[in-house]
Amino acid sequence: MKLIQKDLADLDQKILLLRLDLNVPIKNEKIQDFNRIDKTLPTIKFLLKRKAKIILISHVGRPMGKKDSKFSLKPISKSLSAKLSENVRLIDQNIFEIKKNDIFKKNEKIVMLENIRFYKEEEQNDLVFSKKLASLGDLYVNEAFSCSHRNHASVSQITKHIDSYAGINLALELEALKKITSEITKPTTCLIGGSKISTKIKIIRNLITKFDNIIIVGAMANNIIKFKGHEIGKSLCEKNCDEIIEEIFTLGKENNCNIVIPEDVSVGKNFKDSSQNKDVNKIAKDDLILDIGSKTIRKIINLIKNSKTILWNGPAGYFENDNFATGSFELAKEISAQTKSGNIFSVIGGGDTVSVINKLKLFNDFNFVSTAGGAFLEYLEGKDLPGIKSLNYNE
Ligand code: 3PG
Repeated sequence: MKLIQKDLADLDQKILLLRLDLNVPIKNEKIQDFNRIDKTLPTIKFLLKRKAKIILISHVGRPMGKKDSKFSLKPISKSLSAKLSENVRLIDQNIFEIKKNDIFKKNEKIVMLENIRFYKEEEQNDLVFSKKLASLGDLYVNEAFSCSHRNHASVSQITKHIDSYAGINLALELEALKKITSEITKPTTCLIGGSKISTKIKIIRNLITKFDNIIIVGAMANNIIKFKGHEIGKSLCEKNCDEIIEEIFTLGKENNCNIVIPEDVSVGKNFKDSSQNKDVNKIAKDDLILDIGSKTIRKIINLIKNSKTILWNGPAGYFENDNFATGSFELAKEISAQTKSGNIFSVIGGGDTVSVINKLKLFNDFNFVSTAGGAFLEYLEGKDLPGIKSLNYNE
């Protein structure tokens, strides 16, 4: 895999197609979360300093191959212009009509194509469309790890028609993910939360062979508490999960991986309630499990202290209500403290987990925070990502 910062000495006046993931939440033309935009700034500045001419490519949302002003990149081009102090002109013209030599006006350094998913050919991974896109530049850079699980024209197909490189962030993200999957330092602990055990089973299957501890928290753990014969009251629970749970415990035994589940929980009568700590054998029929309990928090903190590598995906409870945020907040604080003192290597990922650390303003306190959703999870499942494979990445 060729890296933009190592393998390209001369960028002067070269036209570079930069695929970013600027898929950020936008409400009434106002951007709600700038993390993904901010993360691209060092790369863009690096390329501008090297005098490249940059064509930005991204999608926002799922416009299903149709032009729709709701999904315009206009607010993003404006935000980038302000953040870079450099005009980022949005090009609304149909890509099939654009000619390479007409793209940049005099002295212009950076432009942005309108939402690439306005073209049905993008998601169809269309050969002609990807060739047309490639013809607009001299080089292509994938700086969108979080889109690399998509076999789309501007992510994978395009690399067949143009000299292609990995971006700075994409390379960093892969390096961090390798450190928690293949080049791992033991003891290793994986904290996995969220609501559906069925959506995480493939990750657990893949990681159980590599990790010493897998700690299951969040609503996912309710299924296991029930499986163990306890009352879970009105708590969220998925149907038909017993086989999955049996498989997790069998694989745990076979691979010497300690599967940790909550011993106590924090319950309420509804989502707005205050919290009450209860052992898992004391849950009432009208209780709703909304967080892990204090004993469980202490146990997990001990495991974190005795680990060298931590992967965390999925909150421990319903952190949207502060009364049930204690579990997620305490874990975040401990992982951040251990990372800062150099005791552990930590990787955090997933939208809700990132919201937890943002709430605590701890975003910069971990070795790596992945803002990728699906791509992060598919990588952890052990899948090949088309966008990475197409950059000739060999693991
Ligand atoms: C993401 O937000 O995870 C990426 O932008 C991919 O978006 P998608 O799930 O709509 O393909």
